[in-house]
Amino acid sequence: MTTPIRLGIAGLGTVGAGVVKIVQRHAAMIEARAGRAVDITAVSARSRDKDRGVRLSAYAWEDDPVALARRDDIDVLVELMGGTDGPAKAATEAALDTGKDVVTANKAMLAVHGQHLAAMAEDTGRTIRFEAAVAGGIPIVKSLTEGLAGNDVRRVMGVMNGTCNYILTRMENERLPYEEVFEDARKLGYLEADPNLDVGGIDAGHKLSLLAAIAFGTKVNFPAVELEGIGNITTGDIEQAADMGFRVKLLGVAQMTGRGLEQRMSPCLVPAQSPLGQLENATNMVVVEGDAVGQVVLRGAGAGEGPTASAVMSDVIDIARGIRVAPFGQPASQLADAVAANSSTPAPYYMRLSLADKPGALAKVATTLGEAGISIDRMRQYGHMATTAPVLIVTHKTGRSALKDAVAKIEGLDVVKGPIVSLRIEDV
Ligand code: NAP
Ligand code: HSE
Repeated sequence: MTTPIRLGIAGLGTVGAGVVKIVQRHAAMIEARAGRAVDITAVSARSRDKDRGVRLSAYAWEDDPVALARRDDIDVLVELMGGTDGPAKAATEAALDTGKDVVTANKAMLAVHGQHLAAMAEDTGRTIRFEAAVAGGIPIVKSLTEGLAGNDVRRVMGVMNGTCNYILTRMENERLPYEEVFEDARKLGYLEADPNLDVGGIDAGHKLSLLAAIAFGTKVNFPAVELEGIGNITTGDIEQAADMGFRVKLLGVAQMTGRGLEQRMSPCLVPAQSPLGQLENATNMVVVEGDAVGQVVLRGAGAGEGPTASAVMSDVIDIARGIRVAPFGQPASQLADAVAANSSTPAPYYMRLSLADKPGALAKVATTLGEAGISIDRMRQYGHMATTAPVLIVTHKTGRSALKDAVAKIEGLDVVKGPIVSLRIEDV
């Protein structure tokens, strides 16, 4: 008879409790699929007394996750505590050091230490798997490393933060201001402990950097992701985008260009009728374009107990089956250094500015754009405030750096009031 595979679970919060539930509920089914039983041997969390809605009495308890990782009666550490450094990284290293495989949902840790941890796993002959770290229940890591492994990937893009998509969707559908929906997201428990990880685009940027590493065979390079959050988006921007047939999405795009690896996570306008444009609420979507397969679209729950635990179990079952795909799809030692693109692919941009309502004001803006070599495609003025008029400009294709320079100059004009919002119009 094949021996069971033994898990040590560090972290019994939303995801950890979800994993325990699946292991308990589907023990026979998992054993049939994995070819051996999957048992939980020991668990760890901060508070031993907390009611987590699951039975834990059959498992050994460790206060210290590093001690859990070092136990000789576990084969796999399931790290579900979170955090870039601290106990998550210490426990992961301890597990690899003592010959265990690791399954984690921790995108923050992998975006910063992914290369080091993958190399360490390789040196110790183990693996570290992270399906749950990107887009929750969507099997995008497995799709890229296995299902699409025969493709030269051209582009990976998607909506990878459920909280931001929830906020933007409700702002649009119910015409609610950002601040109000943000508070609702907080009440629903959607926000990370540090909400800026969500609304600042950092969490989604972490995820994008992991997908880019797999897609392009490069070392994870999170610092090179161009990041911008959704905090400046107004209901006005959303309505004006809708008028033009677009929706605002916090969109991540990674593509290899002649200038290097482009990785950006920013609010963009996407066609309302495109699959990405139709994505509502906290759902995630990842789109992969490969030379042989064409476009593949994956959509599903990007967070929550069940979906995230489902992804964790996929990795656990693979390891139980003896499947050991390299974490980033090829040996860590062979991953290339990603040369960051020094400018992003040109695109049309949407700009919203508040202009003094007096003769010659618009001409000054148009002249500044013209001097920057930026051509105007469309322009609209939306009513009047007391002394200003909101003006919307759509440019023809231009580079981001040219646009940034022009925006800075326009913000310096005496006829322009307050900051300008500029959003890329993405060709999806
Ligand atoms: P959570 O609900 O906050 O749970 C964290 C767990 O870790 C808690 O059980 C906590 O113990 C434990 N913990 C924290 N510090 C610890 C320490 N020093 N020693 C031992 N245990 C410690 O977090 P979560 O939402 O389950 O997220 C876990 C991981 O999954 C994170 O990396 C997160 O980014 C990732 N993830 C989450 C989701 C999601 O939908 N929630 C989706 C994708 C990925 P106590 O319970 O005793 O406080
Ligand atoms: N805060 C994340 C989100 C959780 O909203 O998508 C899942 O990674």
